[in-house]
Amino acid sequence: MKTEIREMKIEDISTIMILEKELFSTAWEEEMFIEEIHNQYAYVLELKNKIIGYICGWKLLDEFNITNIAIAAKFQRNGFGKALVQFLMSKLLDEKCFLFFLEVRKSNLAANKLYEMMGFRIIGSRKNYYHSPQEDALILGLNLKII
Ligand SMILES: CC(C)(COP(=O)(O)OP(=O)(O)OC[C@H]1O[C@@H](n2cnc3c(N)ncnc32)[C@H](O)[C@@H]1OP(=O)(O)O)[C@@H](O)C(=O)NCCC(=O)NCCS
Repeated sequence: MKTEIREMKIEDISTIMILEKELFSTAWEEEMFIEEIHNQYAYVLELKNKIIGYICGWKLLDEFNITNIAIAAKFQRNGFGKALVQFLMSKLLDEKCFLFFLEVRKSNLAANKLYEMMGFRIIGSRKNYYHSPQEDALILGLNLKII
């Protein structure tokens, strides 16, 4: 399946919001995606010119926090999530950004497995971080710095 990863644009947000509401019990608001676009690390993955996934986050010096990632339900388990994380990481490594962090619901098996596969490890947790339903967050981290 031929896919393209490109920068997220404001006009993509209506499509992204449809996916976001389908995939998360507590969906982001449109404004949060606008902010991520302004932060300059927001990408969409297209299949035949249709958005089927997205990833975003923010950079602070040599640290990067992945704030959101999703793949449309019917296209999951095809390696697209992994492709998005790899794309973002390789861009950040080029910018000499080596430390990656994120929060994930404890029960989110798919996301936890994906991040584990990418080398992330649990470095902490936040009690009752999520609501609807209430749940702890695991804090995952990955250091790609070559010492
Ligand atoms: C998490 C998510 C982005 C993964 O995207 P994806 O495209 O399905 O993931 P990939 O196909 O790239 O999977 C890569 C690896 O992750 C693991 N994985 C992914 N989904 C899995 C699942 N449902 N069960 C177990 N392992 C899974 C597997 O090891 C997989 O490799 P494999 O298929 O060769 O075994 C997707 O499930 C999703 O959008 N979920 C809803 C939104 C969400 O929870 N986002 C995360 C917020 S922190």
